[in-house]
Amino acid sequence: MSKTWWKESVVYQIYPRSFMDSNGDGIGDLQGIISKLHYLKSLGIDVIWLSPVYKSPNDDNGYDISDYQQIMDEFGTMADWEKLLEEVHNHGMKLIMDLVVNHTSDEHQWFIESKKAKDNQYRDYYIWRPGKNGKEPTNWYSNFGGSAWQYDEASDEYYLHLFSKKQPDLNWQNPQVRSDIYKMMTWWLEKGIDGFRMDVINFISKPEIFEDGELKQGKQYASGSKYYRNGPHIHEYLQEMNKTVLTKYDVMTVGEMPGVTPELARLYTDEARNELNMVFQFEHMGLDNGPNGKWDLKPLYLPDLKENLTKWQQALDTTGWNSLYFNNHDQPRSVSRFGNDKEYREKSAKMLATVLHMMKGTPFIYQGEEIGMTNIQFDSLDDYRDIETLNIYHELSEEGLPHEEIMESIYAKSRDNSRTPMQWDSSENAGFTTGTPWLKVNPNYLEINAETEIKHSDSIFHYYRKLIQLRKNHDIIVYGDYELLLRDHPEIFAYKRTLNNDTLIVICNFSNQEPIFELPLDLTFHSIELLISNYPTDNNIQTTQLKPYEAKAFLLKS
Ligand code: NOJ
Repeated sequence: MSKTWWKESVVYQIYPRSFMDSNGDGIGDLQGIISKLHYLKSLGIDVIWLSPVYKSPNDDNGYDISDYQQIMDEFGTMADWEKLLEEVHNHGMKLIMDLVVNHTSDEHQWFIESKKAKDNQYRDYYIWRPGKNGKEPTNWYSNFGGSAWQYDEASDEYYLHLFSKKQPDLNWQNPQVRSDIYKMMTWWLEKGIDGFRMDVINFISKPEIFEDGELKQGKQYASGSKYYRNGPHIHEYLQEMNKTVLTKYDVMTVGEMPGVTPELARLYTDEARNELNMVFQFEHMGLDNGPNGKWDLKPLYLPDLKENLTKWQQALDTTGWNSLYFNNHDQPRSVSRFGNDKEYREKSAKMLATVLHMMKGTPFIYQGEEIGMTNIQFDSLDDYRDIETLNIYHELSEEGLPHEEIMESIYAKSRDNSRTPMQWDSSENAGFTTGTPWLKVNPNYLEINAETEIKHSDSIFHYYRKLIQLRKNHDIIVYGDYELLLRDHPEIFAYKRTLNNDTLIVICNFSNQEPIFELPLDLTFHSIELLISNYPTDNNIQTTQLKPYEAKAFLLKS
């Protein structure tokens, strides 16, 4: 396995709208980010992933782009962005940009042209189809609810939008589309960026023939995902993109891939195939979904998580590479979801960080995770901003679900959970803005904020710093082999890493109980070092009673 900088890095995701507002309009911006780079530097991260900052009408908070080569007015100017890149580099960090090329905004010039007439030269930039029996071309639903097709009266055709109707899907079969995208990517790379996170990149290759999905009882629309996820030409397109653009630069790439399997991820990330460096898989994010999907709540059963993450560790052990994450701008806060955000918030946040950061792969931290930010519960739906949340509320209430039940799902799973403004200090609006924030601040900012975290040496923030530092000091954390211990234990997640003569033992208690840990191995070693722990502890790893949400990692040398 080759050694590369992006395998040894820790990435920090910024959701610009919610990170830091410099001009009091209630919306985070580029100057705000610049003012906080010292904070990120002190955390010790290597790479910043910036969620979209391009020109956008903001139907989906910037994931609907109307101009790939301009900056959104609310975030600042291109000069601000150039300053940001320069400052990130001056701080010894790298910057990767979000690449959203499965779709554009319907306000992108390409789509404006495309919609004008069937013979417009941009018509084929998007996916237009005639209706079938007076209805949509297929019965697919959009990922944000409703049909995935939007009717256009002028041409009597429908266009495909796997997300909102303001996000028409690009037609990657058109070589002109691909070539324009590659030019745009090159333009950013020439500015000196260090890579891309690629939005739903395994959706770009659509099937030759559009077929109906299987309708579930009582539903109007069906999933078409088996036709458009990992579609027929996906590897070809990624290899072409790699050859035309990426290979010319020393950059990192991570492809967001809902529905990717470990077998496919090996193909996507096999270094010999020249596609991507790593992917974001979603299987572990679906383990608390009931049979009806994301909004159907089910508690996490720990052995499922262990089995799943272990499967990924093993699948990409010698070929390919894993990304490691529990949080991002689409997921609820992990401390509320998999930990305990009340009595054991600090302990469980540290425990979750330990389990993740000691695995093999590149860890991604989402803003606020490093200070243990939690989910939000707004009393009124009016306080929610996320298009997916608002749509699902209306869809489920039309299906007859009671308000309280829908709100329980929203409290657990809404994307706005992770989008409330970053909590910097205990001043008004958590120091995020002097104006009115675009999304309300979580009222717990008086207790949970970066200033307090930095002040206390045993805080979650300092624990993350330490984890990041350990990865830099110990090759075994980056490159060591992985083996799960105590596979069926319902409360303990423990594993072993090995590299040359070293062994790393990671022990994490996922419960508020005090289970006994018994090392299921006969290990001989001549030295043992406690690398990190979230409680004071001794060096006993054979048999020990764990405290609620306890986490510890030992390095053994033989
Ligand atoms: C995935 C992004 O992470 C999400 O925020 C967005 O809504 C969809 N892709 C559509 O771009």
